[in-house]
Amino acid sequence: MPRIAIYGAGSVGGYLGARLHEHARVTFIGRHRVIDTLRLSGISWSDLHGGSGRIGAKALDLQLDPFAAAKAHLVLVTVKCSATAAVARELAEVLAPGVPVISLQNGLHNAKVLRAALPGHPVLAGMVPFNVLRRDRGSFHQGSSGQLMVEADPSLAPFLPLFANAGLPIATRNDMPAVLAAKLLLNLNNAINALSDLPLREELSQRRWRRCLALAQREALAVFTAAGIHPARLTPLPARFLPHVLELPDTLFQRVAAKLLAIDPLARSSTWEDLESGRATEVDAINGEIVRLAAQHGMTAPVNARLVALIRQSERRRTTWQSEQLLQELRQSRPAYERPMAIL
Ligand SMILES: NC(=O)c1ccc[n+]([C@@H]2O[C@H](COP(=O)([O-])OP(=O)(O)OC[C@H]3O[C@@H](n4cnc5c(N)ncnc54)[C@H](OP(=O)(O)O)[C@@H]3O)[C@@H](O)[C@H]2O)c1
Repeated sequence: MPRIAIYGAGSVGGYLGARLHEHARVTFIGRHRVIDTLRLSGISWSDLHGGSGRIGAKALDLQLDPFAAAKAHLVLVTVKCSATAAVARELAEVLAPGVPVISLQNGLHNAKVLRAALPGHPVLAGMVPFNVLRRDRGSFHQGSSGQLMVEADPSLAPFLPLFANAGLPIATRNDMPAVLAAKLLLNLNNAINALSDLPLREELSQRRWRRCLALAQREALAVFTAAGIHPARLTPLPARFLPHVLELPDTLFQRVAAKLLAIDPLARSSTWEDLESGRATEVDAINGEIVRLAAQHGMTAPVNARLVALIRQSERRRTTWQSEQLLQELRQSRPAYERPMAIL
């Protein structure tokens, strides 16, 4: 069986590794916090469709040392964006020549960072569309629907069938920058979800929270247009219609949303998980990316800048918001001439 190294055994890495375990020799490389837990409890996965599985600790290859990636035939990078540069350097020291590396991370630039350190390897951008929540101990839950996507490349041919057999079919794409931009638009909700302290489904069922997201997405879409970025269509609706759908009244939204995405009651954003466990978030690579892109094109992105600031504040001291309060805060972050008359 092919050897797959999961580099960054956390929520995404733990879940994917657990599902791939029967179909490949999976090595989980991670930090003490997760690896020690898996050594005690083994790993289990579940999903919103009722699927589940469990692997005992003795059957797992759990490693702390980057050198454990040396024998891999494929590497899945599943660390947070802030760790990508360090992982790139670690992989450059140990990987056999030509081994493909897939970045399964949010944000626009991870594959580029890995590629710079790994010449001679196919480094492919990937995208995990669904949400994974690490529940107690070694238990990982997929809480929303969607199909993995990876940049098309011949080096993937031997691996695609095994992902499909593991119930994780991969769609190969020739437009990954556009796919990652579309995912970034959806990820703008991570900060809002974390500030709400609600499960994703409950948050998105309330129009005021959705209006917060619509503000952030409209701003991002304007910045993308200025930057010549055209987000891919990941749902039956083109990305530019998403803010309109978010602003629909609750009952209408629920009817439309049911056709776009399935979310179960457990799902939460990874930003929420980071804040809960006192870790730094990825807000700089998500909302912060919009702020940077805006500045590069002579624009500002005050709504996303405010979300970055609120999450930074929450990293220092956990705060939660009411929907009306956050909506006002985000509306008022925009210059007066950009606000609709009704709230001036
Ligand atoms: N969770 C989701 O629902 C979800 C869904 C789609 C996409 N994503 C994206 O997937 C990526 C991973 O997210 P995640 O939620 O799975 O993150 P996570 O739970 O934090 O998992 C990453 C793990 O990698 C470890 N790590 C960091 N640097 C390492 C290194 N050099 N060597 C070995 N292990 C290292 C981290 O340890 P420390 O915490 O100690 O640094 C952490 O345990 C992110 O880009 C995220 O945006 C997440």
